[in-house]
Amino acid sequence: MERVYFSDKPETSNKKKVVLGALALVAIVGVVATVALYSSNSTNYALRQYEIDEQEFFGFIAKYNKVYDSIDEFNARFKIFRDNIAFARVHNTLGKTYWLGITQFSDLTHDEFKSRYTPNAYVPNEDGPVADYNPDMAAPSSVDWRTKGAVTAVKNQGQCGSCWSFSTTGAVEGTWFLAGHTLVSLSEQELMDCSTSYGNKGCDGGLMTSAFKFVVQKGLTTESNYPYKAENGECNTTLEKNVAAKISSYAIVAAKNSNALMAAVATKPVSVAVEADQAAWQSYVGGIVSSNCGTALDHGVLIVGYDNTNSPPYWIVKNSWGPSWGEQGYIRIAISKGDGVCGINMNPSYPIA
Ligand SMILES: *[C@@H]1O[C@H](CO)[C@@H](O)[C@H](O)[C@H]1NC(C)=O
Repeated sequence: MERVYFSDKPETSNKKKVVLGALALVAIVGVVATVALYSSNSTNYALRQYEIDEQEFFGFIAKYNKVYDSIDEFNARFKIFRDNIAFARVHNTLGKTYWLGITQFSDLTHDEFKSRYTPNAYVPNEDGPVADYNPDMAAPSSVDWRTKGAVTAVKNQGQCGSCWSFSTTGAVEGTWFLAGHTLVSLSEQELMDCSTSYGNKGCDGGLMTSAFKFVVQKGLTTESNYPYKAENGECNTTLEKNVAAKISSYAIVAAKNSNALMAAVATKPVSVAVEADQAAWQSYVGGIVSSNCGTALDHGVLIVGYDNTNSPPYWIVKNSWGPSWGEQGYIRIAISKGDGVCGINMNPSYPIA
């Protein structure tokens, strides 16, 4: 799982002053530079692209509350932003089934995104009961657990490699709801602080199956009772006792079997691991990802449905990068055989009520 990744950290007021000053200066420099370029008669395509990107960069800074500590950093980030947007624009001309564009990660190089986000490889956990799969079972042609009230609002893990805890809470929330209870948002921070003896490491990564083992033993309290802090902490055993949802066990879906995965998703939301360190995720703004994301698993997410009638057919995947990323916080991944796109068929698991 990812260890660290880019943040939507709130800015400090001191930093804000610095950045406002820097922005004002850069804006002046930008105007002078643009005038100079135009007066040198360089009204070529690249220049116009540059001009558009600058407007977009200021929009990006405002939208994501970006803070840069110096003009040097501002300029460096602007250059990376332009490179990412240029890459996205070329991608979008290639007739793919998904689109790239501006996200909260657009000022990070690919290497930064990858290293802040996945410094260590995810080791799939094969330890656990394997789910029954009846190959004769006909799964419905489409499912969307969001429309059945089984899925809470998209959350944001912030600058913390806790994706595994969000995948876990999402799966337990769905299982608990589908067992006849009220949908309740559950605590990632409890999993981060209290499941370390199960092998999880808070912001430094973890596994959904290890977290399910914890929930079998301890249950889970609510998000509001034990709120998310995006940092490692001590287990609060008082809060932990206030159990809001329980599971009896969990199951691992047969690996690399999209039919078994579909049969599982037909019954409830399912936790999956994917490779998410490529542009297909860093710059994803919509559509169905069908290629170019790899299978070196590094991120935990939640399948909440699928549509097998669409061309291409796709999984509906809930991410934990906030509702402004992707399709209101979701990404669609093409359904395919074998490892699956982004390795999505490789390590699925789900809780049992
Ligand atoms: C646990 O949380 C409660 C409620 O926020 C707080 O009053 C208490 O001090 C916490 N205990 C520990 C050990 O942090």
